[in-house]
Amino acid sequence: MFKNDLFKGKRFLITGGGTGLGRMMLEKFVELGADCVICGRRGSVLEETAKQVMEKNPGRRVDFHSVDIRVATAVEEMIDQIWATGPLDGLVNNAAGNFISQTKDLSPRAFDAIANIVLHGTFYMTNACGKRWIAEQRKASVLSILTTWVWTGSPFVVPSAMSKAGVAVMTQSLAVEWARHGIRLNAIAPGPFPTEGAWARLNPLQEGNDTRYNTRNPMGRVGRPSELANMAAFLMSEEVEYINGEVIAIDGAMGIMGNGTFSNMMSYSEQDWIRIREQIQSTNAA
Ligand code: HXC
Repeated sequence: MFKNDLFKGKRFLITGGGTGLGRMMLEKFVELGADCVICGRRGSVLEETAKQVMEKNPGRRVDFHSVDIRVATAVEEMIDQIWATGPLDGLVNNAAGNFISQTKDLSPRAFDAIANIVLHGTFYMTNACGKRWIAEQRKASVLSILTTWVWTGSPFVVPSAMSKAGVAVMTQSLAVEWARHGIRLNAIAPGPFPTEGAWARLNPLQEGNDTRYNTRNPMGRVGRPSELANMAAFLMSEEVEYINGEVIAIDGAMGIMGNGTFSNMMSYSEQDWIRIREQIQSTNAA
């Protein structure tokens, strides 16, 4: 769906790019001609991913850095090292942390464990890149991976919901503040995408397929990682650079399903609907 050289000459950094959705976006960007840098905590995982993606795409380059984005000085150091080998044209804030818990059971350290990655880490990354782009008068794009909870909140993942809502507001704020520098910021709010990391933490009691998403999602399925990667490529492309400050859901309309007063009727059969029609028409006649 994209021309093959869409990202020719571009260099993007993806946090948490060694696995899961981050890796899917990496593969898509490289396939479309970008050189990429990935960062994460586990050097060996990043190294293996970079190697495999380069093998599949001769001529393309994937660099990797082992870093903990919770540490602002480590982020600065990494961005310095990256810039020493060439500037970036875009950043994808994909790294996150999350676990399901009743909120009353969370210690302050548990809250910080999530907020330090999602809220603080994302800001450190974005500002470290942003100030360099501004100094160099370089056009760039920032994409952050959020969730639909940024609009609705969500029980049992409160530190994540609060932190990602903060990143949504950062996206809007900086989209305005940095537009004059040619830097745009957008975000994607995915619904359920079954990746190994997220599923293990967010689906703790469910082995394998979680049928809840077949009934709770209007489309009757979870997301395909390739769909998210396509959306990411679309938003990172300069062909749509007038899109700025948006948070776009990709969830099969699951996030808005709960808002409809009659959404529970999704499970009604044709027979149910025939009875409903008869009942309503008999009421009209009365
Ligand atoms: C309650 C918990 C807990 C749990 C940890 N803690 N797990 N409390 N329930 N399940 C508490 C600990 O007791 C401790 O507090 C504090 O949190 C810190 O614990 P650590 O183990 O030291 O934390 P840390 O090493 O920082 O690791 C936590 C983490 C880790 C960062 C969240 O799980 C991680 O590395 N995750 C990264 C990958 C990830 O989470 N991916 C999924 C993202 S999916 P005390 O007070 O006891 O010391 C996502 C959106 C999905 O974000 C959307 C789907 C629709």
